[in-house]
Amino acid sequence: MKAIETMLDGQSLVTPSLIAAEVLSPYAETLDVKSKSVGEAQLALILNLAQQQIDKSVEPAQIHANLGFNLHELRAKSSPALWQHLIPLAQNHQIADYFLQDPFTRWSYVKPRGYSGDAQLIDFIYGHPSLDAEIAKASPIGLQLYETNRHSPASIAVRERRDLLTQHIDEIAATRGKNAEILTIAAGHLREADRSRALQQERIKRWVVLDQDPLSVGSVRRDFSGTCIEAVDGSVRSLLTNAHDLGTFDLVYAAGLYDYLNDKVSIKLTRKCLQMLKPNGVFIFANFAENIIADGFMETFMNWALLLRTEQDMWRIIHNSAAKEQFSSQIRFGANRNIVYGFIRKLS
Ligand SMILES: C[S@@+](CC[C@H](N)C(=O)[O-])C[C@H]1O[C@@H](n2cnc3c(N)ncnc32)[C@H](O)[C@@H]1O
Repeated sequence: MKAIETMLDGQSLVTPSLIAAEVLSPYAETLDVKSKSVGEAQLALILNLAQQQIDKSVEPAQIHANLGFNLHELRAKSSPALWQHLIPLAQNHQIADYFLQDPFTRWSYVKPRGYSGDAQLIDFIYGHPSLDAEIAKASPIGLQLYETNRHSPASIAVRERRDLLTQHIDEIAATRGKNAEILTIAAGHLREADRSRALQQERIKRWVVLDQDPLSVGSVRRDFSGTCIEAVDGSVRSLLTNAHDLGTFDLVYAAGLYDYLNDKVSIKLTRKCLQMLKPNGVFIFANFAENIIADGFMETFMNWALLLRTEQDMWRIIHNSAAKEQFSSQIRFGANRNIVYGFIRKLS
């Protein structure tokens, strides 16, 4: 895998060490010797059980499911400091090589673009044809693990997120004649545009798409040349420092971004997005929900840490960003409750 470093803007916590510092900072917690050794013993049991199942050639899907559930339970009962202590122990255990046969897990772990959650990683979840050759190189066990991981509740929720966004884009376009203006922040490869009928039927006036990663911006420029889509090299920081003069929009949204933003930056970004709404315009932001089953496996064997949020966390961002007299807001969960969405409409 060729590593390409992306210039990060320092606003999103797109590496596991940045997330760990954020998670640990409110506690300033020290880890006592007893909890440390109990936690280590519990982790060793879980990893050894997985090793025994691997040795007995149990179905990869079953091994993945058991390990994922056990890690989730262990994470839930561990303090943040203990869990952070256990993560590298799991990553350095011999069973890691088994799970790294899955090209999706491997991409996530290695981070060829230098940060977590790049657009190519998300393409593994979408099953995008651009990855067919890469996936075909996997071992038979790697392929089975990939299929299991791709059909996990978290992956299902990501595909639903893409489709919900397409739906909102098409709905906004339908209500604005041919005048709809849309802004996508942290767009990645903008896969939600692939199935947009409004885009295909040229019913969108302007669709500005921003990302920090020049490879993703280049991919959007190439895939959507000749459409109303304008891809912009930009970041949360460049938005917050008013480096762009983008105008106003009927729909502004960010998916797969707030999971890397602490509350302070989330609130600043939400305020900025609300300033860019036209009357009756809508801002949508998505976040992985707290307590998802995948959390333990993601943070260990995928080396992919996210800031998970509850409904209350989402409301806190909204209440600190949107004045009640000017905006109406809603929180909704996706079908399997792995992703939570904030909707803020500017009153006309
Ligand atoms: C998980 S992907 C989501 C892509 C797309 N929105 C989707 O739902 O498929 C996260 C994207 O956020 C971008 N990103 C992360 N931090 C960013 C920042 N501070 N400014 C702009 N883009 C950022 C990454 O480059 C990446 O393309």
